[in-house]
Amino acid sequence: MYLVLVGLPGSGKSVVGRRLAHRHGATFLDLDEQIERSAGRTIPEIFAEDGEAAFRTLERAAVVDLGPADPAPTLRRVISTGGGSIVDPRNRWLLYRGRIPVWLDGRPEVLAQRLRKSVHVRPLVTARDPIGAVRDLARARERFYSAAHRVNGVTEVPNVVDAVDRLVSLGPAAGTILLRAVTAIGEVTIGTGIAAAATSAALRRLDADRAILVTEPGARAAAANAIASQLRDEGWPVEEVLLPEGESAKQVSTIETAARELARLRVERREPLVAIGGGALGDPAGFLAATYLRGVPWIQVPTTLVAQVDSAIGGKTGVDLPEGKNLLGAFHQPAAIVIDTDLTRTLPARQLRAALGECVKMAALGDERLFGVLEDDGQAIASAEPAAWESGAVAEVVERAAWAKVEIVTADERETAADGGRITLNLGHTVGHALEAAAGYEGLLHGEAVGYGLRAAVRIGLATEMTPPDRAARIETLLDRLGLGVEPLALDTSRVLGAIGFDKKHTGGRLRWVLPTATGVTVHTDVPEALVADVVSGILRGGDRATIPASEVTAS
Ligand SMILES: NC(=O)c1ccc[n+]([C@@H]2O[C@H](COP(=O)([O-])OP(=O)(O)OC[C@H]3O[C@@H](n4cnc5c(N)ncnc54)[C@H](O)[C@@H]3O)[C@@H](O)[C@H]2O)c1
Repeated sequence: MYLVLVGLPGSGKSVVGRRLAHRHGATFLDLDEQIERSAGRTIPEIFAEDGEAAFRTLERAAVVDLGPADPAPTLRRVISTGGGSIVDPRNRWLLYRGRIPVWLDGRPEVLAQRLRKSVHVRPLVTARDPIGAVRDLARARERFYSAAHRVNGVTEVPNVVDAVDRLVSLGPAAGTILLRAVTAIGEVTIGTGIAAAATSAALRRLDADRAILVTEPGARAAAANAIASQLRDEGWPVEEVLLPEGESAKQVSTIETAARELARLRVERREPLVAIGGGALGDPAGFLAATYLRGVPWIQVPTTLVAQVDSAIGGKTGVDLPEGKNLLGAFHQPAAIVIDTDLTRTLPARQLRAALGECVKMAALGDERLFGVLEDDGQAIASAEPAAWESGAVAEVVERAAWAKVEIVTADERETAADGGRITLNLGHTVGHALEAAAGYEGLLHGEAVGYGLRAAVRIGLATEMTPPDRAARIETLLDRLGLGVEPLALDTSRVLGAIGFDKKHTGGRLRWVLPTATGVTVHTDVPEALVADVVSGILRGGDRATIPASEVTAS
């Protein structure tokens, strides 16, 4: 069994780690010292000579070298991590799973005071304002540290060692939390094998007396049955409200039937609903929670990749009308969002591939590392290769895309910012939604439509000189590689153009187009209709990228 100590510089990881290792006859390994030994240089020297990025590469290699988790029941190794190693999702994936991660927490003022007295020079806190620097680090890293067991690291050392030792006696947890954050749009927990335990914890926090699950047949078989049985094992009385599977759940009539079921169960206003399913379940279940008794709390447990990276985050709930999708709805933020990346293992490849359309969108909004992960591992995810889950690639994609959405939505909860806010999430959706509508919401998955929509946005961006050619090429090449927006679509151009006119993203009658730039997106209203018509007919034909001037394209 291995124990991993994480925390800010000055939190006492080395002192506590050495004492604990000594107590158990275990070895102690300081990851930073390990890196210095292999590099033959000190960390400040590596930072000064090669920069932080080079140091992070060495750090990743040192984490990989730790090897797999040790199944022995006794404590055999205590690992003290460099303060920032756990910022990288893949490092956390390697460090936290099957081990006992412990966060030595302390107030930034105390830690800065300790660092001032330390003989080690710490590159990130030698700034003029050490308390401010430590506070900034604490804020930026809290969600990663919070995934570990929290122990107060600034009391007497023997007390800290005892507190950590009590966690050793519990052993590693069955599942692994990778990120935990209390946000303005609900508590977000991301991990693997955590669905039932994190749902139970959220129910306890909400002071619930029972678990009222809202699910649908597909998600029930894949996830909700197992979650229900674990909740029952923990002593929760479980009730279940079953909605229809797929888009047919998003009908007004579903809400009436489900609300009557809640009435029959005598659900009270303080009682939370637990929505377990993909976006087609979360949207109406959230609307049910928003409207039943004028609003009850709810917990989202997304089971599809689309839901984990997109629809479960942001509080947009609703149902469709014959006149259009999502026309009836409400903003209603969940109290908790429990994202268990294991749940998507059973999804059909087509669903996974389609969801990557939303992930490419999130990368295009400005996450270069997400681009890289999708370029390297996207195909494995799209073809449902188990290695994509085992390597931590799925967890990294989910965390990056989901957290980016959390940040955007938190900054602009009601989509009121003129640009730069929630509207940016509409990248690829103006044409994407229109394609779905023109197809009568049949045959084309949402993420597949977004794949075509992204190509349309790229081509419009290129023609209006908002999107530089190399950025356009990078996005389209990634879409090619993932097989998104490639096949011709047998849809009528004029129907698609008509549906664009019905898009909700209008101000004063003018359509707001979200278009890629070199590093993110911009909102543009002056897109000539003839250009849109040309681009739409191009993507419907499939395959060609005629509107990208080949001479200007440089691969990146
Ligand atoms: N609220 C938002 O912000 C938002 C954002 C994006 C999309 N959406 C909505 O989401 C919906 C699409 O959601 P979706 O793509 O998740 O589809 P979905 O919910 O219909 O799920 C797709 C299929 O997968 C099955 N399934 C669910 N979990 C599974 C699992 N773990 N293993 C195997 N099968 C499983 C379902 O039963 C269904 O048959 C659309 O209605 C769209 O409008 C909403």
